[in-house]
Amino acid sequence: MKLELSGITKRFGSLVANDHIDLTVQPGEIRALLGENGSGKTTLMNVLYGLLQPDEGEIRLDDRAVVIHSPRDAIAAGIGMVHQHFMLVPVFTVAENVTLGLERTRRFGLLDRRQARRDVRELSERYGLDVDPDAYVEDLPVGVQQRVEIIKALLREASVLVLDEPTSVLTPGETEDLFRIMRELRAGGRSIVFISHKLKEVQAIADTITVIRRGKVVGERPPSATDTELAALMVGRDVQLRVSKARATPGDVVLDVRGLTVVGDQGEPAVDDVSFQVRAGEILGVAGVQGNGQTELCEALIGLRSATGSVFLKDRDLSRAAPRERLRAGIGYIPEDRQEDGIVGEFSVADNLILDLYDRPPFASGIAMDLDAIRKNAVSRVAEFDVRTTSVGTPARTLSGGNQQKVIVAREVSRDIGVLLASQPTRGLDVGSIEFVHRRIIEQRDQGVAVIIVSSELDEIYALADRIAVMYEGKITGFRPPTVSVEELGLLMAGGGGSDGRPEMAEPTGRNEHPEPAPQDDMPGPASQQDPPAPAGQHDLSRPAGQPDAVPPAARPDDSEAAGPS
Ligand SMILES: Nc1ncnc2c1ncn2[C@@H]1O[C@H](COP(=O)(O)OP(=O)(O)OP(=O)(O)O)[C@@H](O)[C@H]1O
Ligand SMILES: [Mg+2]
Repeated sequence: MKLELSGITKRFGSLVANDHIDLTVQPGEIRALLGENGSGKTTLMNVLYGLLQPDEGEIRLDDRAVVIHSPRDAIAAGIGMVHQHFMLVPVFTVAENVTLGLERTRRFGLLDRRQARRDVRELSERYGLDVDPDAYVEDLPVGVQQRVEIIKALLREASVLVLDEPTSVLTPGETEDLFRIMRELRAGGRSIVFISHKLKEVQAIADTITVIRRGKVVGERPPSATDTELAALMVGRDVQLRVSKARATPGDVVLDVRGLTVVGDQGEPAVDDVSFQVRAGEILGVAGVQGNGQTELCEALIGLRSATGSVFLKDRDLSRAAPRERLRAGIGYIPEDRQEDGIVGEFSVADNLILDLYDRPPFASGIAMDLDAIRKNAVSRVAEFDVRTTSVGTPARTLSGGNQQKVIVAREVSRDIGVLLASQPTRGLDVGSIEFVHRRIIEQRDQGVAVIIVSSELDEIYALADRIAVMYEGKITGFRPPTVSVEELGLLMAGGGGSDGRPEMAEPTGRNEHPEPAPQDDMPGPASQQDPPAPAGQHDLSRPAGQPDAVPPAARPDDSEAAGPS
């Protein structure tokens, strides 16, 4: 179905979120929407899906004007949307979920569930979705849950499918699967609108890329457009896709973690006897395929999850401390799940910028809060971090996803901290904001903060880390310098290549050689484990994997972290 949006305008008070947007998507086309955080992408899609009413403009489907008052209207017109936060019921099966809200369910109940199971199976086979209709949604990995959402839209006969940042929560393998499905759907004549901040993804999958800046369409480009060109068009200035940094000069150990073990939600050891140290002025990057214990590690370090083992911040034993105490002891925390752990949506931007500081000077004296100080702080942080909001009094929930993240980063790096623990710090951020956040993280390092970055983006690990730890199945399978090849890193991430007697980099060495940008190739799969130490082949192996130059082995042999996996 051909989709045409013309002159779509949506205002929120004085803010023009969509400013006369024109967009035409042909049947069998994948159109990418690219734009800064807060540029109006989600708003435009919410207008299309009937969640918001436009102030001006028209929507046409196959050259017929349609009026969409609600998602129900949108679905009836053949529009499907997969939101970034899925709307599935975890305790229901796949079949139960996809029949929810279907007109006929209400009439026939059970019978239709049987039909739904057949439908799910059929769609699953046709598009290679690999979804079991009888599985419970809560047991499914995120990537599969997303496919359930897609099935839901397909069952409702969507000819236009909107995917709002579908890949931000997917592993590289799941992203590949999604792209394959999208191509199948395109071949079947469906129109797809795909939103992503990852330039490489957009270049890989889109037929045409529409760039939006501050609510206006500023250009359309073919997928052959370069990163630099797309980034500049999006942001309106040149963006440094890779922030340069000076050599690290690590000082004393600030964070000392020993034997940390965390039992996961399923009763399995999610973090299994992990030990490491981070020094002042050093960035430790924790790499790994999502779901190998990184989330649990961070939550345990900040005290949101109980754990055994010890966590010391300098001389202070925080092993049993509550989250609040750890924050106050000087751990800055940028959580993976910003809605859950980072922001209080109903609070204003100003209040979110001082969460946990509100009862301390300069924001309070005695029991009274100093509203003027709070406001002034917010105004300067918002300007400094380029948070796009109508005012500092606006509830944080109305900010775009990326801008909420900037509020958290602004708050955490503006406090007096000794450790910065950042989990997926730039997830959902646009390239300009990534550049900015990376600069601030490096700045923290250079001011002597011990930094831990947990990221499933290898580009980010390479851009920031002075030392890389790889997690696999709850263990750290190796420490490497940032000059490590992407092949070797991939091998460690797949559970191979560790503990083979090679010098590991359990201790910081302070070196930083500005490694070349990491290629975005797929990680070598588990198959390549068979011939360690490194998969030879099509990749450029300018330096033999496993020999990261002359990295001195652990300086202190008594350090348990030097032991590696057993
Ligand atoms: N319900 C609302 N009330 C007030 N302002 C809103 C509301 N929803 C969105 N906005 C504002 O509209 C602008 C566009 O937001 P939108 O969510 O469309 O951005 P986006 O391009 O999707 O950004 P991101 O990449 O961060 O997801 C933002 O400035 C946002 O704060
Ligand atoms: Mg959005």
